[in-house]
Amino acid sequence: MRRKVIAGNWKMNMLPNDTIDFINELEPNIKKCESEVILCVPYTDLFYAISFCQGTNIHIGAQNVFYEDSGAYTGEISAQMLKCINTEYVIIGHSERRKLFNETDEIVNKKVLKALENGLKPIICVGETLEEREQNKAIEKITDQTEKALQGLTKESLENIIIAYEPIWAIGTGKTATSKDANEAIKAIRAKVKEMFENTDITILYGGSVKPENAKELFDEPDIDGALVGGASLKASSFESIIGAN
Ligand code: PGA
Repeated sequence: MRRKVIAGNWKMNMLPNDTIDFINELEPNIKKCESEVILCVPYTDLFYAISFCQGTNIHIGAQNVFYEDSGAYTGEISAQMLKCINTEYVIIGHSERRKLFNETDEIVNKKVLKALENGLKPIICVGETLEEREQNKAIEKITDQTEKALQGLTKESLENIIIAYEPIWAIGTGKTATSKDANEAIKAIRAKVKEMFENTDITILYGGSVKPENAKELFDEPDIDGALVGGASLKASSFESIIGAN
């Protein structure tokens, strides 16, 4: 079923104290919101965030996971490790990880399968570069990434998946895709999922410089179910305004 979702991606920001302050400020103001609210926090904040959000309507996610179960993988965190502290979501295939840490579509797919096997809900990111957009290859790129990320999944598992369309040129740059372009891209992703699984109900978010000022226009588009928010999710007040717009 399509759901309204606003997810924050804190990236490598916020210490445990900041996390607790943020939740204390945000939580009383979003009790009645219509969207599902997710915060994807650094590993070191997970335990605090999960404890502080118990009994609230804020859901907690990690920003990465490794695809092996255990072993000699210094520095990596397994899906089981995340699950055992009650992590609910995990971002997989963010463009920063694809670019800076060489994550391929194959790695993204392995992570998605491993997350689902362990009861985590993946938030899968896809998006094109500026060059690809200028060469009219954006739709081809994101539908291809979607197809590869979803290999081997069952139709039923789509219920536990969120896709985030994040044009790389719009992330952290202040440039947003126009709401029409974002909707077209998301519509194409939905069509790809339909082609693969006979399902059009998957939740798909837009991400890339979403702010209180541009959120409503994006959310008014028929195919956009919400947002994955980076910079503007670091302040409770701006994150709250974006939640209020959906
Ligand atoms: P931004 O980041 O909102 O700061 O552009 C979005 C993201 O990277 O998920």
